[in-house]
Amino acid sequence: MELEQIRQITVIGLGRMGHGIAQSFATAGFPVRAFDASADARESARRRIRDNVNEFVANGLVNSKDVEPILSRITVHKSEADAAQGADFVVEAIAEKRKVKQDFFARIENSVSDTTIIASNSSTFTISESGVHMRCPQRAIVTHWFNPPHIVPTVEIVPGSETTDQITETTIALHRKLGKQAVRVNAEIPGFLVNRVQMAMIREVWDLYERGVASREDIDAAIQGSLGFRLAVSGPLAVCDFGGIDIWSTVYKRLAPDLRHDSLIPVSIQKLVDEGCLGPRCGRGIHEYDPATIEEVSSRRDTAMLKLAKLVGEEQSP
Ligand SMILES: NC(=O)c1ccc[n+]([C@@H]2O[C@H](COP(=O)([O-])OP(=O)(O)OC[C@H]3O[C@@H](n4cnc5c(N)ncnc54)[C@H](O)[C@@H]3O)[C@@H](O)[C@H]2O)c1
Repeated sequence: MELEQIRQITVIGLGRMGHGIAQSFATAGFPVRAFDASADARESARRRIRDNVNEFVANGLVNSKDVEPILSRITVHKSEADAAQGADFVVEAIAEKRKVKQDFFARIENSVSDTTIIASNSSTFTISESGVHMRCPQRAIVTHWFNPPHIVPTVEIVPGSETTDQITETTIALHRKLGKQAVRVNAEIPGFLVNRVQMAMIREVWDLYERGVASREDIDAAIQGSLGFRLAVSGPLAVCDFGGIDIWSTVYKRLAPDLRHDSLIPVSIQKLVDEGCLGPRCGRGIHEYDPATIEEVSSRRDTAMLKLAKLVGEEQSP
């Protein structure tokens, strides 16, 4: 399957990730047929996508006259088979459960042609694992988006051991056509690329928090205003080059043995989990939240990310 042959997209699962993925394809001009097992998710999808697109308009990233055409490209169907009709590219963003994914990949092949590319947005399961019961696993691949998917630029493209190079290249080209920063991950390792790096940082951050090295507010401010700020415009390897590899090697030798390197969850974090303090929706995670203002806080976060996406996009365009 070549990029030019991809005309019709199907998105299965319209939760946090799926609705934003559907929006991204529709914004790039693709007709999208979608399905979710939950009637609530099916009914609210259009409103959620409309709200997102309106945020793009408010930030000058979409023209207001394009809102209705974008929405009209998305149709929500009552069955998976209906949604999959005529699909050239299918992506699932359903529950993160091994059996649910494996059943989906075995089943969906009956509703699409043998050349349709079938992608998984799984954060943890490789395509070799999810697609284990497929007839044609060579057309299956992981496309791992980041939340909120309609805003965060990177999509990790992770072929399985059976995926053909042609499918991988077409999938990369397709996501670049959406304006995404599609990166190829060559090995099916747990966490792919980004989540490994993210967990390495979180392990150290949780340890610093546990030891009271700084307050929760100062830890967030320190990382956001230094690494976060710099990483918005340079990758970590480029940061090393600009700092000088000799300096970084000296720091590495001195610090690497001292960094947290076990796999135990710190006591203070485990306590939050045990007490059900899991994040904004519970009123408390590591920070405290007022449930009445969560929507407003997430909307402010999305607006700030959209402004950043616009700025970085302008800086990086040739
Ligand atoms: N949330 C994130 O930050 C994030 C980031 C990257 C990848 N992912 C991955 O994306 C996938 C979806 O995550 P999410 O956060 O959107 O979850 P979610 O719970 O918000 O949405 C999942 C949706 O899938 C629907 N669903 C479940 N099983 C289904 C099935 N068999 N057929 C059709 N619909 C089904 C549910 O009704 C729900 O609406 C997961 O694999 C997850 O690991 C999530």
